Amino acid sequence: MLEFAIVGFGNRGSTFAKLLKNEKRARLVAVAEVDADNRKLAQTQFGVKAERCFSSADEFFEKGKICDAVILCTQDAQHREMAIRAMRLGYELLLEKPAATTLEDCIAIRDTANGLGRKVMLAHGLRYAPFFYTIKKLISEGKLGEVVTVNQTENIAFWHFALSYVRGPWRNMAASTPTILAKCCHDLDLIAWFMNKKCKSVSSFGGLQYFRPECAPEGSAKYCVDCNAETRKSCLYNAYEVYTEAQVQRGTGGTRKLIGKDVKGLIESRAHEIGRCVYHGDNDAVDHQVVNLLYEGGATAHLTMTAFSQRCYRFVKVHGTKGEVYGDAGKGILHYTPFGGERQEIDVNNAIAVDDAAFLGHGGGDYFLLMDFIGYLLGEEKTVTRTTIDESIESHIIGFKAEESRLNGGAMLTIER
Ligand SMILES: NC(=O)c1ccc[n+]([C@@H]2O[C@H](COP(=O)([O-])OP(=O)(O)OC[C@H]3O[C@@H](n4cnc5c(N)ncnc54)[C@H](O)[C@@H]3O)[C@@H](O)[C@H]2O)c1
Repeated sequence: MLEFAIVGFGNRGSTFAKLLKNEKRARLVAVAEVDADNRKLAQTQFGVKAERCFSSADEFFEKGKICDAVILCTQDAQHREMAIRAMRLGYELLLEKPAATTLEDCIAIRDTANGLGRKVMLAHGLRYAPFFYTIKKLISEGKLGEVVTVNQTENIAFWHFALSYVRGPWRNMAASTPTILAKCCHDLDLIAWFMNKKCKSVSSFGGLQYFRPECAPEGSAKYCVDCNAETRKSCLYNAYEVYTEAQVQRGTGGTRKLIGKDVKGLIESRAHEIGRCVYHGDNDAVDHQVVNLLYEGGATAHLTMTAFSQRCYRFVKVHGTKGEVYGDAGKGILHYTPFGGERQEIDVNNAIAVDDAAFLGHGGGDYFLLMDFIGYLLGEEKTVTRTTIDESIESHIIGFKAEESRLNGGAMLTIER
């Protein structure tokens, strides 16, 4: 049986632990996590021995190689150093996305993996979600002909954007990652997967339009606790209403770290990010961005990322020479039309026959991703969904180039490899 360690046992780390719980081919044997409560969770809920719950990644790595693979789920800026250290020690690696926060760091991870011959997969779980997998299948079976255009929208949802990108861990791009990578490296990976060609050029526009001081309503203050009562009552981002027990438990936007904490006390302390006004923070994460991509042979793709939607969902439209398919991933229904024929509805909602929410993360993608990683380590044949480190870093390169273009007024940039 394969033995795994999870480094960074927060939201994503504990998700993978849940998915491993009943797995027969692999088990969780070690955890590295700085937060004592999270370490306790690893022991009490996932049966990791106390002596195998390390209080930091450093302490874990100092032990040398003690199991087969590492699932690396620390924050983006920690990935480069920890991923390379794990690979050098001989670990195979499942690495959370984005791979790293700069292009140079991503390339260093790729080159180390290739140089050492390590098996490294990025957590591009959406490839495995039935909605996206079904689109890829239609393409692979030739049902759409040759893909000419892909049009994708990442609707982040106003509340999710505020949690993660205005107050949360990804609010400051220099301290974390450019938003187009942090939020959309899945989208860039999916577009590359659908296109199955080399991207030649990219251009991008976008910015932070709304979550800034000039958009603050009258009566607002730097902290929710100091806001005018009437203004706060009508504010969509009122911290007293946003950080509910349900939201904290859900973990979206890094809120899981608030479990068991005095949330009201934190809001009123004026020292914690969750109590800050969304218009007066230290955020610079862009709230909307468009990316245009040109592929070998002339095919094109377009990605829109926006904070401004009610629901959090992706909308995808793929146009081929023989047919088209479109759908709202949140609704799980694809509309496929072979040209000259009838439109068909493909409902992927019941594609996974489980009712445990843990198995449905990213539409079931997280579970199948982990199963594929296990298959990879066990030498099973490459699946159509499996992403190599080279492919994954390719979509990161496109993301970093898109950001460079945005910062240069939408300049068209060539993708160099
Ligand atoms: N695949 C996806 O769709 C997806 C979704 C959300 C987040 N992510 C990515 O997953 C990663 C983790 O995100 P998260 O939401 O789980 O964050 P998180 O903050 O909940 O978890 C990170 C954990 O790392 C721990 N940690 C920090 N420093 C450490 C150290 N030196 N040694 C050991 N542990 C340490 C923290 O205490 C925390 O528990 C990020 O890279 C994020 O971008 C991916």
